[in-house]
Amino acid sequence: MANKVFVGTSLDGYIADRDNGLDFLESVPNPDGHDLGFVSFMKSVDAVLMGRKTFEAVLSFDMPWYAKPVFVFSSTLKEVPAQLQGKVEIVSAPLKEVIKVLTVQGMKDFYIDGGQLIQSFLAEDMIDELIVTQVPVLIGDGTPLYGLLPRHLEFELVKSEVLLQALVQSHYRRLRKESKEPVYE
Ligand SMILES: NC(=O)c1ccc[n+]([C@@H]2O[C@H](COP(=O)([O-])OP(=O)(O)OC[C@H]3O[C@@H](n4cnc5c(N)ncnc54)[C@H](OP(=O)(O)O)[C@@H]3O)[C@@H](O)[C@H]2O)c1
Repeated sequence: MANKVFVGTSLDGYIADRDNGLDFLESVPNPDGHDLGFVSFMKSVDAVLMGRKTFEAVLSFDMPWYAKPVFVFSSTLKEVPAQLQGKVEIVSAPLKEVIKVLTVQGMKDFYIDGGQLIQSFLAEDMIDELIVTQVPVLIGDGTPLYGLLPRHLEFELVKSEVLLQALVQSHYRRLRKESKEPVYE
């Protein structure tokens, strides 16, 4: 099983600007609509786990809905829009508990999305793979990808490639010396 992150960031590590804008992610021309690996990444996961603010952001996007079940972490959201009933579930429980329940239901690989949610997973050392696409722009302020951690977390570089002659996509895997298989007990 693996909890995976797939994000685009500014050079200074932000996933959204101070107004929650994402235009900076599109600052490199992509005339052929290269998906930057997203389609194959989505095939590699069983479900999407996202923070409530990311959920609210994607609701406003003009995009086909995810082909995988979506679980939204929130303590404030009470219901999902009618058109997403059966596709989206609101969850509010400790991360380990949520992963355990979903694993029992047969899911094993998860896409973790949203700055605060990713930081919560990292703080509990529950991220196994990080795929970060860095856009060469400094934005100075916004929603940070990374935050405080109780300890250092080492990752190994699986692959790094230049996309659209401008973006650097780096794929990291958590280096756990004790055990190769994560155990979130
Ligand atoms: N560049 C990219 O690839 C990328 C990717 C994803 C998102 N984004 C952008 O990032 C912004 C959203 O990120 P964000 O960091 O502000 O917020 P977020 O992580 O998407 O959502 C934060 C909210 O999720 C809930 N939450 C988070 N961790 C939780 C936990 N451990 N347990 C229970 N609930 C938890 C809380 O909701 P309640 O307040 O309801 O309790 C919290 O307020 C948006 O602008 C979005 O467009 C960019």
